[in-house]
Amino acid sequence: MTTLPKGPSNNILVNIQGMLDPIGYTLRMRERYGDPMSCPKMNGKPVLATGSVEGLRSVFAVPPENLDQMLGESFTAAVGESSLFSLSGARHAAMRKLLMPPFHGQRMRLYGKQICDLTLQCSQDFKPGLQLVAQDLMHKISLQTIIHLVFGVTTPAEAARLEELLEELRKSFSFGLTITLIIPWLRREFRGFGPWARRQRATRDLRSFLDREVARRRAEPAERTDILSLLLEARQEDGTALDDQQIFEQLHTLLFAGHSTTAGALSWVLYFLGHAPAALRRLQDELTALGADPEPEALAKAPYLEAVCNETLRLRPPSPGVGRKLNAPMQIAGYELPAGAGVFAQIIWAHHNPAVFPEPAVFRPERFLERTYSPFEFLPFGGGNRRCIGAAFALYEMKLILGTLLRRYSFELVSKKPVRVGLQGLPGSPVRVIVR
Ligand code: HEM
Repeated sequence: MTTLPKGPSNNILVNIQGMLDPIGYTLRMRERYGDPMSCPKMNGKPVLATGSVEGLRSVFAVPPENLDQMLGESFTAAVGESSLFSLSGARHAAMRKLLMPPFHGQRMRLYGKQICDLTLQCSQDFKPGLQLVAQDLMHKISLQTIIHLVFGVTTPAEAARLEELLEELRKSFSFGLTITLIIPWLRREFRGFGPWARRQRATRDLRSFLDREVARRRAEPAERTDILSLLLEARQEDGTALDDQQIFEQLHTLLFAGHSTTAGALSWVLYFLGHAPAALRRLQDELTALGADPEPEALAKAPYLEAVCNETLRLRPPSPGVGRKLNAPMQIAGYELPAGAGVFAQIIWAHHNPAVFPEPAVFRPERFLERTYSPFEFLPFGGGNRRCIGAAFALYEMKLILGTLLRRYSFELVSKKPVRVGLQGLPGSPVRVIVR
């Protein structure tokens, strides 16, 4: 085996630093060790990190049958064994095929009007001078889209109960829970206390709510467009439908993957625009030029709005890196790695490559109007056979929510102090804004 490049040693403090500040820490490590870099070994096997164009090209060129999920066991504990996150190989490909149809462009457009209406409902009480936390607003809107579009729950009482259950599930995803996902023996309920107990309780409560909803829909099938209904109709390759456990795990996965990511990215947009008055003005001019009541499609096609979303996802990708495990020897970024080795595709390194993005730390949406980027240069949704299945939906949703809000209101930052990056690249402290 060739000698691998240098990297940080295996030290619990290093791991915690990486979790608490996944963007700053990873960028500092590249400065110190270069790209590619070795990460602490996992189960005695080497782990390599890369974010260069050539390195990422070699990661995503590995045949899917030779790639497993890097933290498969932790994902199984978090969202279940039939979740896309936990599966590998042929079972992963088959489940992806089943889950993809609701996210196709044509079907997504059915959701446009609903997303704009839900955004308006969540902001209907806004008055000039109102102070709010961007994350609270964006979580609320993103949760409403999940309740209506993914779960298809529309009766007010049921929707309110589901909102409570989903909020509790989201809040249970704490730093403590992340630790239990890494260290299996901490996964105990300790007489009902601790992060694992809280998570299990929240999961059980949501499961019993959804089992009732699924039983009702199976008993009274109707023409519906929500993703839960599409999953109930979907058939696996052997012609069978998904059972209740699989349905629950897929919904849990979509919630886990789609809620905090979208809400976090939208909160960062308000933060960056608050620091960039010229960009905010340009965006509001573009939105005003669309006329009094533009169709959702007009918002989705607004070029500067898309550039603002992309530039935010470049600087603050909700998953700054994605992991893979090789099940056969492969050459990655010029190094021979054995079967069982881990590979990190460092999205944040690619997004801070000065040869591709000059002055990489500067928020400048115009760069997305000046040129297009390859999937190895700009990849907020990951790549290869595990690329985010919600990518088109998430970008569409971001544009409609922002377009709808910013056509009516400006959001001024209460303080220009920098907001630190927290767990999973999300804002680590409240982004406080004043409605204008
Ligand atoms: C701004 C919002 C979002 C971002 C930045 C994002 C990013 C990502 C990334 C980086 C991955 C891992 C890709 C890889 O391993 O190469 C991923 C996976 C995934 N995402 Fe998203 N995501 C977002 C929103 C959503 C939404 C709204 C949904 C669905 C409702 C969704 C569903 C999924 C699923 C199911 C996977 C697992 C795919 C697989 O393993 O095959 N995501 N996402």
